[in-house]
Amino acid sequence: MIDSPIPFEKAPLQRVSDSFLDDHQVNLYVQREDLIHPVISGNKWYKLKLNLKHAKERGFKTVLSFGGAYSNHIHALSAASGLFQLQSIGVIRGGCDGGNPTLRDAKAHGMQLHFASREEYAKRCNKLYWQQLQDIFGGCHIIPEGGNNIQGVLGSREIMRSIQSHGIAFDRVAVAAATGATLAGLIQAAPSHVKVLGVSTLKGEDTITSNVLGYLNDMATGRMAQWQVFGGYHCGGYAKVNARLLDFMERFSAGTGIPLEPIYTGKLFYALYDMVLNRQIPAGANVVAVHTGGLQGLRGMQPLMDKIKARVG
Ligand SMILES: Cc1ncc(COP(=O)(O)O)c(C=O)c1O
Repeated sequence: MIDSPIPFEKAPLQRVSDSFLDDHQVNLYVQREDLIHPVISGNKWYKLKLNLKHAKERGFKTVLSFGGAYSNHIHALSAASGLFQLQSIGVIRGGCDGGNPTLRDAKAHGMQLHFASREEYAKRCNKLYWQQLQDIFGGCHIIPEGGNNIQGVLGSREIMRSIQSHGIAFDRVAVAAATGATLAGLIQAAPSHVKVLGVSTLKGEDTITSNVLGYLNDMATGRMAQWQVFGGYHCGGYAKVNARLLDFMERFSAGTGIPLEPIYTGKLFYALYDMVLNRQIPAGANVVAVHTGGLQGLRGMQPLMDKIKARVG
């Protein structure tokens, strides 16, 4: 059970039973972090938890963070801040009117939305801009986009402990990565015989590896698990989707009963099956894939997914 003001469920571990995996003699388990809470699910809770504690302990009344119009992070923050009796402000990347389901939920959870132009949003990591936001909104604890800070990484270590608490033997843990904060926490907490695999959801320069290295250098604690970021599975880029990915997701979910969304978890499992096929994950491997939630984002992706399916079908 997570140390929090309200009870969260412990994530169950589900073994995937599948003839493809049996043929390749690979055991695949899914750490169902999507099931820990109906709204604040997946890695979001772990990245937010210590940030919210930190804000509360320092006497802040409000937290502020950044995200796109369909952001899982903004959605989860809007609900999680209430658990700590904190107000929340979401700075939302420009070009939307706040009418989509993610932002409607965020408003219903009590979040104040500030719509920033693309130019303004580009300053989201700039400390001078943070000062301007403090001046506009009063003193608030600012959490970087995606919960990508040291508190986010430290909180994510708990996912590894939760996996270990199931008492199964495993040699690989895999997770979808965008900022790499969750991946860094998993690497930090992993036993040294376990290899941690990050499946990048981004195209282009590998910012994930450099971000993770930065955290690991700051937190160096002796023997470290091996880890690697895999860059070949973005399917065209962040939030891009193609027919092969959608087809895979449909078959995987139908066979396992595990729901996926196409931005993070769909790409994670797509990558893992490909790695099993090409033997980057060898026979005898015991893999735990972390289901990081994000299913609320499906509502925003559905029209695009339907369009792609219609074009193919
Ligand atoms: C569902 C989901 N999975 C994975 C990630 C990637 O997490 P990180 O930014 O810590 O790499 C995110 C983004 O926060 C996400 O929303």
